[in-house]
Amino acid sequence: MSERIFSGIQPTGNIHVGNYLGAVKNWVQLQEKYDCLFCIVDYHSVTVAYDPEGLEERVLDATATNIAAGLDPEKSIIFAQSLVPEHTELAWLLTCLTSVGALERMTQFKEKAARQESIFAGLMNYPILMAADILLYKAGLVPVGEDQLQHLELSRDLARRFNSTFREYFPEPKPLLTSGARVMGLNDPSSKMSKSLEGSYIGLADEEDLIKQKIRRAVTDPGPQGGKMGPGVANLFTLLEGFADPDVVNYFKRQYAQQSLMYSELKESLAAAMNTKIAPIREKRRELLAKPEKVKDILYAGAEQARQIAQRTMSEVRQLMGFRI
Ligand code: TYM
Repeated sequence: MSERIFSGIQPTGNIHVGNYLGAVKNWVQLQEKYDCLFCIVDYHSVTVAYDPEGLEERVLDATATNIAAGLDPEKSIIFAQSLVPEHTELAWLLTCLTSVGALERMTQFKEKAARQESIFAGLMNYPILMAADILLYKAGLVPVGEDQLQHLELSRDLARRFNSTFREYFPEPKPLLTSGARVMGLNDPSSKMSKSLEGSYIGLADEEDLIKQKIRRAVTDPGPQGGKMGPGVANLFTLLEGFADPDVVNYFKRQYAQQSLMYSELKESLAAAMNTKIAPIREKRRELLAKPEKVKDILYAGAEQARQIAQRTMSEVRQLMGFRI
C-alpha cells in the first residue's frame, strides 16, 4: 500500500481560491494514486466565536464544495471530524506531551489571539488537535498551503516525542506543497487570502459578476518596483498560473518583461479564466446542496471507514501509554 495522505479544511463558509490552489486542487490529483482521507474539521472551527445554528449547513457546504471541486467519495474517505470522537481522545493524550511554549510561539495563534477579547485554550491547543487528526491515521504525507507548515512541524515533533517516550509508533508526517501554496489577499497582498478577511478572497461559489468585480478591484502595484515584481501583480500571476492555460500565462509574462503589461487586460483574462474553472464547481455544489441528505450520507459512510482505522490506532496508543484496565 502506498503512503497514506491526510488533510483537512475548516467549514467556515465560502471555500476560496486560496484553499483551492493551496490544497484542494492537489487533493483531487493525489486521490488517484494514494490512500487518502479528507476531513471537514468542524471541531477546529469552534476555537473562536461562531454561530451553532449555521454549523451543520457550513459542514455540508464545505463537503459539497470539495466534492464539486473533484474529491470523489469512491476514491477518498471524506468525513466530518466530529463524527470520529477518537480525534479528541488522541488530542488530549498529545496535549500531555506538548509544551505550552511551543503553542505560544505559533504565528497563527499570535495573529488570531490579537483579534480576540478573551482567548480560549482551544485556540492555543488547536495545533495539537491537528496533530491528532494526522497521527490517528498514521499519515505520511499532508498536502497543505504554506500557512500550515508551522503546525505540521508540531505534528512531527509530537510524533517524535511519542516515539521516544513510549515506542517507535507514529511516522513523521511530511508536508506536500503546491505552486499556489500561498495565495495573498486581493485587497491586501501583504496578508494571505482568508475567509475571515472580507474583500480578500474569491469563493468557489461566487457568481461570474462578483468574480469580475473582485478582480477589477484587486490591488496592483504603483509601478515597476526596482526591477522586481511587486506583491499585488505577483499574486495575480499566481492566480493566472492556477487557472489559465500556459499560453495565456506566457503571453502576460512576455508583456510584463517588455514593460507593456496592461493591468486591465491581465485582470479581464484572469477573471475569465477563473470563471471558466469555477462555473462547473459552482453548479455542481448547488446541485449537491439541493440534496443535503445525500451529502450527509457521504459523511456518515466516510466516518465509518475512518473510524475503523482510528479505533485501531487508539487501542494501540492506549496500550503503549499504559491504559490497560
Ligand atoms: P484551512 O481551513 O484554513 O485551509 C484549508 C487548506 O487551504 C490552505 N490555504 C491556503 N493555501 C494557499 N493560500 C492561501 N491563502 C490559503 N488559505 C488556506 C491551507 O493551508 C489548508 O491546507 N488547520 C487547517 C485544517 C486542518 C488540517 C488538519 C490540515 C485541521 N487538521 C490536518 C491538514 C492536516 C486549516 O485551518 O486549514
